[in-house]
Amino acid sequence: MRADDCVDCHVLVIGSGGAGVRAAIEASGYGDVVIVSKTIVGKGGCTPMAEGGYNAVLREQDSCGIHFEDTMKGGAFLNDPSLVEILVKESADRMADLIHWGAVFDFTEDNEIAQRPFGGQRFPRTCYAGDRTGHEMMTTLIDHLSSTPVVQMNEVAVIDLIKDGDAVIGAIALDEKGEMVMIKADSTILATGGGTRIFDISTNSASGTGDGFAIGYRAGAELIDMEMVQFHPTGAVYPYDARGRLVTEAVRGEGGILKNMLGERFMTKYDPERMELSTRDVVARAIATEVLNGRGTKNGGVYLDVTHLPREQIEAKLPVMLEQFLKFGVDIRNEPMEVAPTAHHVMGGLRITPRCESTLRGLFACGEVAGGVHGANRLGGNALADTQVFGKRAGEAAGKAEKRTKRIDEQQIVGEHEHLIRFLEGSVSPAAVTGDLQRAMWNGAGIFRNATDLRAALAKVMHLARSDIRAASARNLPECCTFQNMCLTATLVCKSALLRPESRGAHVRTDICHAWDAQTSPFSHTYISKSHEGIMRRGGTA
Ligand code: FUM
Repeated sequence: MRADDCVDCHVLVIGSGGAGVRAAIEASGYGDVVIVSKTIVGKGGCTPMAEGGYNAVLREQDSCGIHFEDTMKGGAFLNDPSLVEILVKESADRMADLIHWGAVFDFTEDNEIAQRPFGGQRFPRTCYAGDRTGHEMMTTLIDHLSSTPVVQMNEVAVIDLIKDGDAVIGAIALDEKGEMVMIKADSTILATGGGTRIFDISTNSASGTGDGFAIGYRAGAELIDMEMVQFHPTGAVYPYDARGRLVTEAVRGEGGILKNMLGERFMTKYDPERMELSTRDVVARAIATEVLNGRGTKNGGVYLDVTHLPREQIEAKLPVMLEQFLKFGVDIRNEPMEVAPTAHHVMGGLRITPRCESTLRGLFACGEVAGGVHGANRLGGNALADTQVFGKRAGEAAGKAEKRTKRIDEQQIVGEHEHLIRFLEGSVSPAAVTGDLQRAMWNGAGIFRNATDLRAALAKVMHLARSDIRAASARNLPECCTFQNMCLTATLVCKSALLRPESRGAHVRTDICHAWDAQTSPFSHTYISKSHEGIMRRGGTA
């Protein structure tokens, strides 16, 4: 492939979940837009799998101020307040866009949009479409995208960003045959989602491999708070193949209760006020503690029980859960589910401004690949809102950005080519080592962390990153790049976790005894890039 043999557009969107598609829709008002998906536009990513809901302030008794406070407190005050303010102020309008485009949310008998309680929130502000909210949103977004001139490129895996000096001017990708594709763009939006597939047990779809964190880092972008990984309290425990699959927080929102093997409603010990609707970091630790102390089920979980709820409520509000567990041989109307924590969401990511600008000229980021919105612990229901609010903002800012001359450095293409060729000569299949990486991360960088285990995980990950990875044919090249991205994302998580000498939100260091109060902690964001890494002190000093 040569430098003049490529696609040229005004805005390139990388990733096609909720944030990417929303960004592409918005950017299409400003010029030619190309959206690339390593799967099929709208089918990959985690948005279609998001079940429980979308937070928006809709009622008089609620307010953006309360939503702001809940989000900051839930995030252990590590959130960027300017981003949170935008999230809470704009999420209702972005939901109105979805409804205008045809999304069907649940309504109350009084013909108002229904809202359910979710953890850590003082008002039931989570809007929903049963327990398939993300699916409803994604179907709507894809329908709407099809009415725009946005060019959709499926099964195209971006491997790196292209730079002209210090500006990003597009991306190099591999198509489904493993052939290189180059896409030049005045503005590039990373909307690649999260990466909790780097852990052994995860809610993420197969595409949640952290590509965007790795791609952004390699291009020189700064990432913040990469240690902040959310473990959702309730993932399926069995059958083995379903391990980690999301059991939506809506189950607890609808009144589900947690019990240990002794039948004790153990949340009374951990958060007697909010109980099962405490924040996710607290509930996940509570479940993990019960299991570690021998009060878990034989499958290593606890019970989540809705049998006291009316059958009609379960059938109407939790149809996906009902069907999913029936497939596992459990009728949740009559017997409890078994659940345990599962890696769910990366709160850290590329540092962004309110216009979704990254630290690199020409590169924007939105959705889970961007950091700062959710701080140290995300509230359930804020992620879907985040995709729409910041997806729109990224699309608008990228669309409005100036056209630029884009000179491609032939040397970069030659370098990428040589890197890919080496995979064809390698000896280790990525599938043979991915499990080792996931187990190392689960064991060393999981819910409870200490420096010794983090260093061991980091050493293992760095060792795996040097594996002589092999692509059996050109079609397998994307898998090799994915494995390397997983290793790099895992490295960023471990290094950042070692940089933060405190327990905060989802990041618990059992080897550090001093407990700072989140609001008065002397520490702010961790930051990591190719040129520097560290932890900021409150007030902005490094
Ligand atoms: O539990 C859930 O339905 C997940 C929601 C979320 O992560 O926001």
